[in-house]
Amino acid sequence: MSKRSNSSEQKKAAVAADTALLALYRQFAEVTAPVWWFADEHIADTPLPAAQQNWQCFSNRCDTAQQLRAAGYHTELNDFDVSVSSVLPQTVCYRVSKEKAVVHYLINQALAALASGGHLILAGHKNDGLHNYAKKAAALVGATADIKKQDGGAYIATICKCSEPSALLPDNDYTSLQQIAQAPLLYSKPGVFGWQKQDRGSALLIEQLPQFLAAYNERPARMADLGCGYGYISIMAAQQLPDASWLLTDNNATALLAAEKNCDVHGLNAELQLADCAEGLHGPVDVVLCNPPFHQGFAVAGSLTDRFLAAAHRLLRRQGRALFVVNQFIPLERKALALFSASEVLIEHDGFKVVCLQK
Ligand SMILES: C[S@@+](CC[C@H](N)C(=O)[O-])C[C@H]1O[C@@H](n2cnc3c(N)ncnc32)[C@H](O)[C@@H]1O
Repeated sequence: MSKRSNSSEQKKAAVAADTALLALYRQFAEVTAPVWWFADEHIADTPLPAAQQNWQCFSNRCDTAQQLRAAGYHTELNDFDVSVSSVLPQTVCYRVSKEKAVVHYLINQALAALASGGHLILAGHKNDGLHNYAKKAAALVGATADIKKQDGGAYIATICKCSEPSALLPDNDYTSLQQIAQAPLLYSKPGVFGWQKQDRGSALLIEQLPQFLAAYNERPARMADLGCGYGYISIMAAQQLPDASWLLTDNNATALLAAEKNCDVHGLNAELQLADCAEGLHGPVDVVLCNPPFHQGFAVAGSLTDRFLAAAHRLLRRQGRALFVVNQFIPLERKALALFSASEVLIEHDGFKVVCLQK
């Protein structure tokens, strides 16, 4: 393993402001309340406009919800379940998400809930599919989308609800947990990171596990999976560690629904916790397994990598070890040496590397 370096990386990647979100924020002063705001992960790091009366925010991420609540917004933290709201909106604001099924689902919720004559305001860029979403939404309610260009290549589309929606946009059965693999049996759903896939990086991490575990005289008993998504890493690793207990954590409530289902199906002794980079959770654990997020909203998340490293270090027992997988160009082994005593790249393959860290 390489030795701790004094030249640990201090710089955090600059997160550029999302011009579509800023364009949406500029609409806020003009809109008619009651307002629903679907806030997806992209609000990270962008200062929020002042909270107003009669606004209801929905988010499936605990860090986003925390940010909104701290700014005074009434916020529901769940898998975008709007049925919990007792107030129907005159306006729905939404900076479109990355995943089409989520966007379609939220447009369907908005169009169903809006009062007649109410407005759906969508923000996004051309390559987010904003025009297409706006036209499809408008066609459902007998309207034409009013699409206006904004600063920084962003667009705002305003759709007036002229009639009840004639149909639903296809949302991949958003609210259902769905079987995505047979052996092992895995469930997932839209709204979860890479929900229909088995992540290649995570699969590479699992391939290194026998080598990683070979260094232990006794099998590790307490494991943590940071940024667990639907639980792929835990479920796969548990096949090699059938007696271990597990802590699975993610900031996404949708992901935890799927992870809980997979833990139940496979009989894992598991605790599932919604947390922002494991904040508020306690160790000690023997091993941390982690495939940290590469993006935060639409920006590359350099500082998130640092936070996941710090969380892993904090949760680990003395001399505990972590196994991370990251994109090959992320200097994880160098960053890690600011905290860990040693780091070793176990494999580089297919754009990923798996790094073993020793506390
Ligand atoms: C690259 S994915 C890996 C998912 C999963 N481990 C897998 O292998 O499929 C990163 C995960 O980190 C989660 N995540 C992103 N930001 C987070 C944060 N601030 N705190 C906790 N988890 C976060 C995402 O929701 C996502 O599930």
